[in-house]
Amino acid sequence: MTETTEHWAPDHGEPYRPVPYRPERMPPEESLTRAAELRDRMRERHTVRQFAPDPVPEQVVRDAIACASTAPSGAHQQPWTFVLVRDPEVRRRIRAAAEHEERISYDGRLGEEWLAALRPLGTDRVKAHLTDAPALLVVFQERYWLGEDGTKRKHYYVDESVGIAVGMLLSALHLSGLAALVHTPSPMRFLSQVLGRPENEKAFAVIPVGYPAPDCQVPDLVRKSLDQVLVEV
Ligand SMILES: Cc1cc2nc3c(=O)[nH]c(=O)nc-3n(C[C@H](O)[C@H](O)[C@H](O)COP(=O)(O)O)c2cc1C
Repeated sequence: MTETTEHWAPDHGEPYRPVPYRPERMPPEESLTRAAELRDRMRERHTVRQFAPDPVPEQVVRDAIACASTAPSGAHQQPWTFVLVRDPEVRRRIRAAAEHEERISYDGRLGEEWLAALRPLGTDRVKAHLTDAPALLVVFQERYWLGEDGTKRKHYYVDESVGIAVGMLLSALHLSGLAALVHTPSPMRFLSQVLGRPENEKAFAVIPVGYPAPDCQVPDLVRKSLDQVLVEV
């Protein structure tokens, strides 16, 4: 199977080309050990909103994006783009635009029910993480395919596909020792403008990436137990 290519193009209309897939089967004892370790490591993940300015190893971020881009996607359309923003001036512009929208949101656009849902998280209209974190990953969804000649083609299950890819990105970052936050300032149109993205892309989230600040705090959140989320039939 061809894993990656410099010049990927959609297989639209191509015939089915099966190739053998024979991964080595993992012994059950090893599966058990690995699954338990992974569960415990993932329980240590927390959304971080206070970042240290320290730089992060660039290759770790690149590898996490490569990991995210292995995600399954509707009709294998891989409808995602990750924009890695390190330029402090661009991060300042993103912060200014995000805080403009967040001010309007927190001053009434969200409504009392939404504000009440956010209260336990301690968030407000100040978004220092957008300039404190050394890197921002802005994730865009490709709402439809846009050929060089302007041809448009429908993409399927874009929200689901990009959501899964972002989940894999967050797992990869966490397991590689980096902290992140999924930030969704609403509306997010300004991100397309600031980053000059094409018309077929729509911002999905801004993800600051870095190390937690030395005085970082997180809300004391309780996660559902397995028996609250698992139904066995
Ligand atoms: C789709 C999505 C949007 C989110 N948007 C924001 C946001 O705009 N601002 C923020 O501070 N946190 C945001 N979060 C982070 C959540 O508040 C956080 O994941 C949740 O409180 C659980 O905390 P944990 O990630 O530490 O388990 C978002 C998370 C998701 C999945």
